[in-house]
Amino acid sequence: MKNILTIILGFCTAFAVANVDPQPGPKPKNIGIALFRAWQPMDVFGVFEALWELGLLTPINVYLIDADGSAAMVKPFNPFATGSNTTATVLADYSFDNAPPLDVWIVGGGIGTRDNATMAPVIEFTKKVYPSLQYMISVCTGASVLARAGILDGKRATTNKNAWAFVTQFGQRIRWQPHMRYVRDGNVWTTSGVSAGVDGILGWIEYVWGTNVSTTVTNAMEWYHSGANDDIFGTLHGL
Ligand SMILES: *[C@@H]1O[C@H](CO)[C@@H](O)[C@H](O)[C@H]1NC(C)=O
Ligand SMILES: *[C@@H]1O[C@H](CO)[C@@H](O)[C@H](O)[C@H]1NC(C)=O
Ligand SMILES: *[C@@H]1O[C@H](CO)[C@@H](O)[C@H](O)[C@H]1NC(C)=O
Repeated sequence: MKNILTIILGFCTAFAVANVDPQPGPKPKNIGIALFRAWQPMDVFGVFEALWELGLLTPINVYLIDADGSAAMVKPFNPFATGSNTTATVLADYSFDNAPPLDVWIVGGGIGTRDNATMAPVIEFTKKVYPSLQYMISVCTGASVLARAGILDGKRATTNKNAWAFVTQFGQRIRWQPHMRYVRDGNVWTTSGVSAGVDGILGWIEYVWGTNVSTTVTNAMEWYHSGANDDIFGTLHGL
């Protein structure tokens, strides 16, 4: 009996942990991440952490890029009602004007995405760089930048379930997915809110470099990887 159970469990495990082979062809190497005023900390550095681990296994370059190549503050334009000073300032490596050629462009979200003047150069750069990219990735309300750049038109996509109405007002014929942790449509990956960026980037790493590499990265981070369909927040927000 015990042996039979072991065999059955073995089969289940074998089927549950399907091994994804790496994509054929040249791997992406130069990866840019957008910064702007009032960016969301984990949107940027959750993804950065996974890429940092990936950089131990394969040659990649990760650059932080903003409109003028200078400091980008987490601090929002309007102070929090609590008066809290929960800020951080990060220096970009490049500006949109002197950015190196990119294979991957990642746009996170944050309160700054609500400010049209702040986002205008980010949207413009995203529109300009998209045709030469291998992959486009957004985290959280960063999807609003892709939508405003026209990149999501006609595609399946997702975003932060807590900012659904704000983001889904943009773009044309976007097939928004309210119960997904992350979504791939062609070469465009969009993720749900904040921490979902980590799950999305791990899914993307698995897609590009295969399961062995993504498992190594996931375990190095001690992260419990939620899959693309593993979402409870759409229901929580009544979507
Ligand atoms: C945040 O900083 C401002 C300016 O220095 C200060 O007036 C305010 O009291 C600080 N907030 C808290 C919670 O201490
Ligand atoms: C920002 O842009 C959106 C559409 O792109 C528009 O609906 C909204 O009114 C603008 N907000 C401001 C404050 O100008
Ligand atoms: C899996 O990844 C590890 C770490 O990158 C590497 O040492 C190992 O050779 C890989 N195994 C296979 C079967 O690709």
